[in-house]
Amino acid sequence: MNIAHQIQAATPLVPPPLVAPVYRLDRTFEQNASDGPAFTGPYPDVPVTPMKDFLGHRVASRIGVAASLLVNERWFELYSRLGFDLLTYKTIRSRARLAHPLPNWLYLNESTVAAGGPAALLQAIDQIPSAAFAATAAGSIGMPSSAPEVWRRDIRRCRTHLRPGQIMIVSVVGTADPDTTEQDIIADFSALAGEARDAGAHAVELNLSCPNVGQRESEVYRDTELAVRIGAAARAAAGPLPLLVKIGPIEERDRMAELLQRLAGLVDGVVMINAPSRLIVDTSGTPAFGRNRERAGMMGGAVFDIALKCVRTAVEIVRRDSLNLDVLAVGGVCSAERISAFANAGAYAVLTASACAWDPYLAIRAKHHDPML
Ligand SMILES: Cc1cc2nc3c(=O)[nH]c(=O)nc-3n(C[C@H](O)[C@H](O)[C@H](O)COP(=O)(O)O)c2cc1C
Repeated sequence: MNIAHQIQAATPLVPPPLVAPVYRLDRTFEQNASDGPAFTGPYPDVPVTPMKDFLGHRVASRIGVAASLLVNERWFELYSRLGFDLLTYKTIRSRARLAHPLPNWLYLNESTVAAGGPAALLQAIDQIPSAAFAATAAGSIGMPSSAPEVWRRDIRRCRTHLRPGQIMIVSVVGTADPDTTEQDIIADFSALAGEARDAGAHAVELNLSCPNVGQRESEVYRDTELAVRIGAAARAAAGPLPLLVKIGPIEERDRMAELLQRLAGLVDGVVMINAPSRLIVDTSGTPAFGRNRERAGMMGGAVFDIALKCVRTAVEIVRRDSLNLDVLAVGGVCSAERISAFANAGAYAVLTASACAWDPYLAIRAKHHDPML
């Protein structure tokens, strides 16, 4: 029995995943923001579940949407109405930035995904696979942001849509241009953390899976010193609000341990993982997203195993070293069973991104499956 059939058999009260996604893959990011979400219902009842603690807040579940689809008030309202309780407002910047042109979201040949590690060429396919909610895709969107005067107003309005037992996390990122210094990016992150607090966030997430500054290669979360300095500055700016950092995959246990040990006490939780970076080609071997966009982030299906391994390692380190840090899981979450698997691995909360474009009923499904999640 494939995963689509299992889902329908397990939760008869909940509609199956959609045949067309709420986020239109044939439209630009800006069109999705202005015209979406492409959803007309139905709106099944959300099961009432016992309240739990989430970093000092009372929540109906520790199931949520990662920084991804909640690009404005309308998107936020939809997922709140459908029972996702930890709602992450998509990453904001201190200046407006447009998304990359289409394509932004391509599905992958699963056999190239299964065979390949970080250096492999993964092949994009021209169609959308059946059971796309559980398939593996690549995203190259470019972390766009509306202008501060737009997101300030919008985030305030999002807060008014929250239902009892729900909270809003606001994701922020410093912008690294070629001449940005470390001091600039630290100041940018910290100013944004303060803005997120002022706009009504219940928690702030620092997206450290962004490019490093100056000539230093790789992403900020791989630079422990810089990550810690950003965490410390943002801690001061966020005041008493829970502070999270979002990181990408870390393969080496010692590096993970060093990062977590240094972040504990500064931040409350680590959200892992952001979409792992991979080389994506089309069937003729040319970069599928175009020149200068050879690498893209892998999302959905196959990310689950990578994320589960990172979460398990992180939880072991946190327990071994008695760190005051929670581990929040993201990656390939497309079923109630996968949410439970992360929870059983010790994840404090579980968030979904690409799959909930196809299955906006995932939180309802998970609450039927296990009201304690
Ligand atoms: C449309 C889309 C936009 C995204 N934008 C962001 C973002 O702005 N900031 C961020 O930290 N992650 C972003 N992500 C990454 C997700 O939060 C998540 O880490 C990644 O997609 C893996 O989760 P998934 O397998 O559930 O999709 C985005 C993902 C999607 C699908």
